Amino acid sequence: MSSGEPGQQSPVQGAGVAGQRVTVEVHLGPDDLHEALKRDVLKGLTSEPKALPPKWFYDEEGSRLFDLITRLPEYYQTRAEREILLSRAGEIQALAGCATLVELGSGTSEKTRILLDAMTAGARLRRFVPFDVSEQTLRDAATDISTAYPDLHVHAVVGDFERHLQSLPRDEPKLVAFLGGTIGNLEPRVRKAFLRDLASSMPAGDWLLLGTDLVKDVARMEAAYNDADGVTAEFNRNILRVLNSSLRAGFEPDRFDHVARYDEREGWIEMALRSKVDQSARVEALDLKIGFRSGELLRTETSAKFTRKVVERELAAAGLTLLRWWTDAAGDFALSLSRLD
Ligand code: SAH
Ligand code: TRP
Repeated sequence: MSSGEPGQQSPVQGAGVAGQRVTVEVHLGPDDLHEALKRDVLKGLTSEPKALPPKWFYDEEGSRLFDLITRLPEYYQTRAEREILLSRAGEIQALAGCATLVELGSGTSEKTRILLDAMTAGARLRRFVPFDVSEQTLRDAATDISTAYPDLHVHAVVGDFERHLQSLPRDEPKLVAFLGGTIGNLEPRVRKAFLRDLASSMPAGDWLLLGTDLVKDVARMEAAYNDADGVTAEFNRNILRVLNSSLRAGFEPDRFDHVARYDEREGWIEMALRSKVDQSARVEALDLKIGFRSGELLRTETSAKFTRKVVERELAAAGLTLLRWWTDAAGDFALSLSRLD
């Protein structure tokens, strides 16, 4: 059984095939998650403008919807990053091959298999440490990876990368991958603190492989968050369903429009839910009633778009030196490889 006690380890259920090695470290058990959700929702819904932090998108349904997003024709990021990984995985292994690969915000770790292939072929990789706040998705991914790479020790960490980075292994050199452009979902101040914190969990010589979406034509950036099938809209509304089921709230998701637009000044896509009508909803677990005016926005996520200069500067501010910068052929997305001085 898994435990809510920080740092406790337990085998993944259902992964009992002889020879397989999967362990799970839980820093956020169900009770911690519930308390953190309550805090965030109380703060966010009583702020002006109203806002909810995006880590709460990823319950099982949210993770399933995100997986659909990655396959949408408009959402170029995943394909672009896969293209870079396919052409550069060998080079990444040659330069930064380590015995430990950590992946932050790992989700299904699907693209990561390209790295795992190169790093296990290089015969040095022994341990894979996927790290995510979404426990079920993480457990499923850990089991799948362990089945596909039977010689690997898969050590899954259930945690919040804004709070639990100090639990990352430091017993041997490691490569930390943070893919998908997820770093762009952290607002500038949070991003700065995150990079500092990450750097302080990395002994000198550790590597960071970072995926960042790049500034480009506004219409293409906006289309990636306004797909024709409405999958992103459902993903955005799912955050209200999370509140309904976890906090006994009474939101009616269909009474909110999905909005995503590029803010030129900030350099980010801003996502929100816009109330279609004057309405209110109760959140029983917080004993709170929240009113929305017609047209009022509930901000759900920003997704920053980068240039090489900005990435290099932000890494440097945390003590990381950028050594390689790779983009896909179209120049849409970048992977950078940096090392802690
Ligand atoms: N790396 C995958 C998934 C990206 S989606 C890809 O490139 O496709 C973002 C992932 O980060 C989700 O799995 C989500 O659960 C996780 N995540 C978001 N905020 C997090 C946080 N604060 N701590 C840990 N994981 C987080
Ligand atoms: N990291 C992804 C991104 O910023 C997450 C994402 C994609 C997302 N589409 C979304 C988050 C829609 C919220 C809503 O591209």
